[in-house]
This record gives sequence, structure tokens and C-alpha cells, in this order.
Amino acid sequence: MNNKEYAQIVEDAVNYIQKKITYKPQIAIVLGSGLGDFADLLDDRIEVSYGELKGFPVSTVKGHAGKFVFGKMAGKNVVCMKGRFHLYEGYASKQTVLPIYVLKMLGIETLVVTNAAGGVNTSYDAGDLMIINDHVNLSGQNPLIGGNIIDFGEQFIDMSNDYNKDYIKLLNKIATENNIKVQNGVYVQLTGPSYETAAEIRAYRALGIDAVGMSTVQEVIAANQCKIKVAGVTCITNMATGVKPNAVLDHKEVVETANRVKDHFTKLIAEFVKQC
Ligand code: HPA
Repeated sequence: MNNKEYAQIVEDAVNYIQKKITYKPQIAIVLGSGLGDFADLLDDRIEVSYGELKGFPVSTVKGHAGKFVFGKMAGKNVVCMKGRFHLYEGYASKQTVLPIYVLKMLGIETLVVTNAAGGVNTSYDAGDLMIINDHVNLSGQNPLIGGNIIDFGEQFIDMSNDYNKDYIKLLNKIATENNIKVQNGVYVQLTGPSYETAAEIRAYRALGIDAVGMSTVQEVIAANQCKIKVAGVTCITNMATGVKPNAVLDHKEVVETANRVKDHFTKLIAEFVKQC
């Protein structure tokens, strides 16, 4: 797909959605594993499945529904992404960030990214929430490779405030006020889908990485390009390979832990929507 075709898919999606919703959404939330039900908290919901949008990828991961849910929360116009696109599904980086550009053109100013990740920092526990302070892109990919699609921003973009510093402060304040335990750390994106080796995790720890996952970074790069302010929260669903001797990783544990911390996670994000 060339850039012109790409821009057309975005434009068609925006036109389609604007026929269904008459207001401008302000805040978008990408719902990671375990937070999928968050969309049920919106009032006056209007759903648009990715499948309705011409040329859009469809999410192939079990438990990721694949739709935008528009609605109201705390008097604000919110859209949730139930399901996102991952590199490990075989999508190119640019395809995984298509929704971000659609959201930008719909008027989004704030993006909340959530995800599940493995804890690399040995002081973390499974079930901790981590406010993402920064990331390391070890996916080998970048959505801005391959030329600039002019309406979306520059190609060589500053990443010094990638996770908005005021939002990091706000998330910490909300956590303190609501007795929610949080960590503050650095997230790395790898392509997956195999989990990491113990040697890889030791290497990442030496690099200053606190949590390891398979999403988010491409989206955050695209959001920074088009000047959407980003907040990020990770659910540490398991300790990464080798942190606990003899522990074996499986996707079931990831889902179970995400469900266990759902209430705190939901509270943190809902309060953020109210206060941001
Ligand atoms: N590694 C990578 N991605 C993950 C993990 C992990 O340990 N847990 C949840 N997503």
C-alpha cells in the first residue's frame, strides 16, 4: 500500500465515523488485556467495528474484540479502542497505527495507552500497575519509516515528552489519592509473539528497562508525530522470564492477573479521564 492509499483509508474511516457520531471525541483509550470491559462504563455508546471500515485491518487476537466504542464519561467525549493491531499478527508498523491517525483526524487531543507486560524490574510484583515514564523501541520497526504522509506531521520528531510529563504527575496523584499501588518505569516493545529468553531479560534489565511487552510503542510514536498528548499505564501481569527461577510463562496467567487488578486499573483510568 502506498502513502496515498493509506491516507485514503484514514479519510474514508473518518468520514464513515463522522456520519455516526455528531460530536468531536477528545480522549481516546486503547484498552489492553484485562481492561476491555472499560468501554462498558461509557454512556450513550456508539460502536464501530474495524470490519466496517474499508481497508482497515481486523484484529486476530482472541479476547481483542476489534472495535471503536464512542461515548461519554465524566462529561467528556471518549472513545475506547477495544482491540488493537500487533506486529506479531503480521501487520506492518504503519498498519498497526492506522487507528491513531483516524483518532487524530476525529479531533483527539489525549491518548491513553494501556497494555499488559512482563515485569523486568525485580522489585515489581505480578499485579502491579506501572505508569509508563518512557519507552525503548526494540521492535526494529517504526511507523514513520517509508515516507511522510503529509497531514500527519513531521518525519523526524522529538520524543523528549513522549509520555506527557503532566499526565505522569496526574496519574501518580490519582494513584496516591485512591490508595492504588503504582510503579513508574520504562516499557520496551518487542515484536513477540514468543516470550523472551532469560538472557534477553537480563540484558533488558541492564539497559534500564522495567517492563517488557508486544504493543504500544508504535502507537505512541504515531501519536507524538501528530501531537496527541500521551498517558500510558501497564499492568504487570507476570514477572518476565527468569525473574522467578523455574517459572514458566503462559498467556493464561497474563489474562488471569489482568482480571485480578481490573478494578484498580479501571479506577485509575476513569479518574484520569475525569481530571485530565
Ligand atoms: N513478555 C512480553 N509480553 C508480555 C509479557 C511478557 O512477559 N506479559 C504480558 N505481555
